[in-house]
Amino acid sequence: MGALDGRLAVITGGGTGIGLAIAERYANEGAEVVIAGRRKGRLDEAISRIGHGARGVVTDVGDEAQVQRLMDSVPRVDLLVTCAGGAVFGAVETVPMSAWQGLFKDRFFGQLSACRHAVPKMSAGGVIVLCSGIAGHAALANYAGGAALCGGINAMGRSLAIELAPKGIRVNVLSPGLTRDTAIDWGTPTAETRALLDTLVNHVPMKRPGVPRDMADAAFFLATCAYANGMVLDVDGGWTAV
Ligand SMILES: NC(=O)c1ccc[n+]([C@@H]2O[C@H](COP(=O)([O-])OP(=O)(O)OC[C@H]3O[C@@H](n4cnc5c(N)ncnc54)[C@H](OP(=O)(O)O)[C@@H]3O)[C@@H](O)[C@H]2O)c1
Repeated sequence: MGALDGRLAVITGGGTGIGLAIAERYANEGAEVVIAGRRKGRLDEAISRIGHGARGVVTDVGDEAQVQRLMDSVPRVDLLVTCAGGAVFGAVETVPMSAWQGLFKDRFFGQLSACRHAVPKMSAGGVIVLCSGIAGHAALANYAGGAALCGGINAMGRSLAIELAPKGIRVNVLSPGLTRDTAIDWGTPTAETRALLDTLVNHVPMKRPGVPRDMADAAFFLATCAYANGMVLDVDGGWTAV
């Protein structure tokens, strides 16, 4: 018996990194998992890794019609996890506005539209896990737009938690700290990204980045703890405790 037996989970960004680790965890706990992302090849690789009958739906979450199609493809939504989206780093005077706008289109409006189209398919006992990042309240240079986005998602999660509580739907925000082994490509770092990574790791009292599995543990807690609602859960090795 798994803790998520009989639950249908839709996980955007489930083809890689944090979303994939969450999909694996939920599937191992008995959930029927549907993952969404833009690259079919990544989704195909991911669903064979997840197993348990997982399936993928090619979706660009920045396009509301595609989000609607994703939700139309499932009979109901018990668990919604919104990990899709990337990151943009750079000095405020150098990053073009189009880059920040793209980030918000996918990662802010993508999460909002996922909620908009999933909520009608959810019933009492449903759970939404949004994804922000600790930059929402830990000041980080060269990330002005991303920090604003994370803070906005945290606020969105609290507002939705109040709004949806009467329907019996819980809403929380997973706020990852620095997490490696994801497609945010720290993988083969240049000297510059290596230096950035070292600087970031130095902020962490545990002196190491997290891994997607750490985030999956937190997402499992948010899926199963019946009294967790309106939370922003920082999973960051203690970064924001300092
Ligand atoms: N890693 C960290 O240190 C960290 C820290 C704080 C917050 N976060 C946030 O946590 C989330 C997951 O991060 P991650 O590290 O796991 O990154 P990741 O491996 O790059 O995963 C992001 C996923 O989102 C999908 N995606 C991106 N844009 C999309 C779009 N428009 N429509 C549909 N899918 C889209 C990507 O697949 P396709 O490219 O195939 O679409 C990819 O599978 C992201 O929102 C990230 O910003 C990460």
